[in-house]
Amino acid sequence: MIVCVCHNVSDRAIRSAMDAGAASLSEIQAQLNIGACCGKCLPSAKALVNEHHEDIATRFTALRRELVAA
Ligand code: FES
Repeated sequence: MIVCVCHNVSDRAIRSAMDAGAASLSEIQAQLNIGACCGKCLPSAKALVNEHHEDIATRFTALRRELVAA
């Protein structure tokens, strides 16, 4: 799905940037130039960042439980 129409940036590209280490919306903006035109993509991009952070927190919690149980 295209998130930023102005710069033709997909959700997949945003997720890849986060997997490669981008940790905030501003870092993603700097890498992919999203939001630099009309800015209509920023709420969707922020939702993807939040979703990514929640996913990391969930994985961290599960890993922590495994380590505590070991
Ligand atoms: S849709 Fe991203 S800057 Fe316009």
